[in-house]
Amino acid sequence: MAENADRMDKIVSLCKRRGFIFQDSEIYGGINGFWDFGPLGVELKNNIKKLWWREIVQKRENIAGIDSSIVHNPKTWEASGHITSFTDPLVDCKACKQRFRADHLAEEQGIAMTELCSTGKCPACGKKELTEPKSFNLMFKTFIGPVEDAASVAYLRPETCQGIFINFDTVRQSARLKLPFGIAQIGKAFRNEVNPRNFIFRSREFEQMELEWFCHPPEFAPDKKPQDWHEYWKTERMAWHLRLGLKENNLRFRDHRADELSHYAEAAVDIEYNFPFGGFKELEGIANRTNYDLRQHSEHSGKDLRYFDEEKKERYFPYVIEPSLGVDRMALAILCDAYDEDEQEGESRVVLRLHPDIAPVRVAIMPLTKDERIVALARSIQTSLLDSGKNVYYDQSGSIGRRYRRQDEIGTPQCITIDFDSLEDNAVTVRDRDTLQQNRISVSEIESFLH
Ligand code: GAP
Repeated sequence: MAENADRMDKIVSLCKRRGFIFQDSEIYGGINGFWDFGPLGVELKNNIKKLWWREIVQKRENIAGIDSSIVHNPKTWEASGHITSFTDPLVDCKACKQRFRADHLAEEQGIAMTELCSTGKCPACGKKELTEPKSFNLMFKTFIGPVEDAASVAYLRPETCQGIFINFDTVRQSARLKLPFGIAQIGKAFRNEVNPRNFIFRSREFEQMELEWFCHPPEFAPDKKPQDWHEYWKTERMAWHLRLGLKENNLRFRDHRADELSHYAEAAVDIEYNFPFGGFKELEGIANRTNYDLRQHSEHSGKDLRYFDEEKKERYFPYVIEPSLGVDRMALAILCDAYDEDEQEGESRVVLRLHPDIAPVRVAIMPLTKDERIVALARSIQTSLLDSGKNVYYDQSGSIGRRYRRQDEIGTPQCITIDFDSLEDNAVTVRDRDTLQQNRISVSEIESFLH
């Protein structure tokens, strides 16, 4: 346990030191639950999003992408059930005035939530003066226009998928989609979490990558029923995490119990990751949302969102299977999985063993000296790798050993060294982060070698 806490501390400190992730508004003392991604963090996050988009949207003919607004007409949230049901149960301590998640506290103290006010103890001051649990809505409120009254209230979206449901018909028609098909979106979501914690695991502002997979309801399914698609997406999503290099023994599925299902879900499974804090926790959720959302939006908007099945000459609400993954949480799992320490030539080194498609820097270019001819060759290699779409870092300061260590620590898979021999044989040394092997490669072959 202590070892894991130590590992987490090291990851958090590396993230700040090397410009991956740090507290927002730090010069003002920070702001709880909000984080900023620095130069390397933004590259990492962009790579995750790019790979997800490619896998989910671009490689599949029957999935279309959108980018909707963050603020929707507030009726959206009445229809979706978020105004009444997107709540956490909270208790206050009458003695020290602190506020806690009632479900977390009850679980920690091994009692029912209803017993907290009689036998529960405040974890801060130890007094038995907790209130009855009260529901607290997690949506951030704002006002539209200059008047701050009830009529101008709006909400920052707590999940991106409602932007998909409210645009369902427009997107279906414009992209000429036929069941089964999907609509996907990546974007910011906001939740006024009571206890944001564990670095970026639970924050108040984060990004989601969500796919809403619309399929035939059970009674009209020609072959695959919604539960079959649920299985299909479970397999697809787990395979994706493994392809990106997350270790198999750090991943598992967990089915939701009936009492923890969200208000819209008939069944849900989490892909959990074994985080250094507290073990296996939700990384991605895959839910069967039935036809709940389309039916609700039809009722509340008065617009018929049923799908017309030309073969069966029937109109019905499709079912929805939804794989939903947090970008920030994925970045955290990747960093935790990749962090490693080893010894090289008697020196300890920190290394991030990141998949090459995820690493913020794909390759570092290192001229051995500042000799003009060497620098010119290094710069021309840099330009051609940049032109081929790779993120390249140019580093000519410090000893070569120190330069390698700096790149290992940020997960750069390969470093290219250009030396005096390069001027004669037009070849460079490519050093591998994990095997530490050094290969002499001709300049014209660098790209295919990296590929
Ligand atoms: N549309 C369904 C939905 O939003 P969710 O389980 O509440 O479901 C989906 O969220 C994913 O979003 C989670 O699996 C997690 O990766 C991410 N997520 C949710 N709340 C988060 C938070 N407060 N901070 C960071 N990521 C979060």
